[in-house]
Amino acid sequence: MSYYESLGLSKEPFSTSPDPDFFYRSSEHNTALHRLEIAIRLRRGLSLILGDVGTGKTTLSRALLQTFDGEENFIFKLILDPTYKSEFQFLSSLTKMFGIKPSFRSTLDYKEAIEQYLYNKGVDENKTIVLLIDEGQKLSHSFLEILRTLLNYETNEYKLIQLVVLAQMELLPRIKRIKNFYDRVTLKYIINPLDELETKEMIKFRLKKAGLNSENELFTPSALKLLYDHTSGYPRRISVLSHNALEHIVMEDKKMVDKTIVKKLIAQEVA
Ligand SMILES: Nc1ncnc2c1ncn2[C@@H]1O[C@H](COP(=O)(O)OP(=O)(O)OP(=O)(O)O)[C@@H](O)[C@H]1O
Ligand SMILES: [Mg+2]
Repeated sequence: MSYYESLGLSKEPFSTSPDPDFFYRSSEHNTALHRLEIAIRLRRGLSLILGDVGTGKTTLSRALLQTFDGEENFIFKLILDPTYKSEFQFLSSLTKMFGIKPSFRSTLDYKEAIEQYLYNKGVDENKTIVLLIDEGQKLSHSFLEILRTLLNYETNEYKLIQLVVLAQMELLPRIKRIKNFYDRVTLKYIINPLDELETKEMIKFRLKKAGLNSENELFTPSALKLLYDHTSGYPRRISVLSHNALEHIVMEDKKMVDKTIVKKLIAQEVA
């Protein structure tokens, strides 16, 4: 029997995978999601979502995909890690991703083939192509330049590619230095950590999603308060600490996570 089943849950409540079903719509995440959706539907071009480590960028991207689920006019392509050895490798991986084969093999041929593809899909077939790039802080200068050229492909009314870059904060000063890239950012949103109330709500939301009966509580109010104080509302830290706390009460055969347990776990983290 899994540890969560002995707590009366049907699923793992604090898994670290970016499952959209466990996505709690905090005001930050909700605003980011709405604004992204609008930017994509209006085909405005480049959206940039920034946030510290573990603020929920990858989870947000999965929720975005879910928002467009079943809409055939939108084609989403996902790059989870934009690390490539060369510009050529980046371009060739883009063409592979779009399912196109350039007839020659220079970088220019690749760019032209991509432009042609975007034109066919975006204008002839009226589809919206969205390229979602996670871990955007890993984009090197030359890859950002390539992305900039892709954003040049446009009709009078809209961009032929919608780029969504999710990145840690360190990308910001770097792209600010590439002025003609930064100028093209039509949506810039920074995801801040959750406040105290939302931290508590996120924990409750995830427990409920995992099957906890709404009358039951697994955390005392003071445990939740300490959890917030220690994690400063960073979703990954909240998830990890909550997970450890639940495992702890199962091992110790207790019913609820109290402040003492959270304190103990925090002390272990530091040690
Ligand atoms: N809105 C949310 N609701 C519920 N859980 C969340 C939310 N945002 C993030 N989490 C949880 O926090 C953890 C980290 O989230 P995620 O991987 O999306 O962060 P990230 O910003 O992509 O981090 P990194 O900068 O390391 O890539 C995951 O376990 C995820 O389930
Ligand atoms: Mg991530």
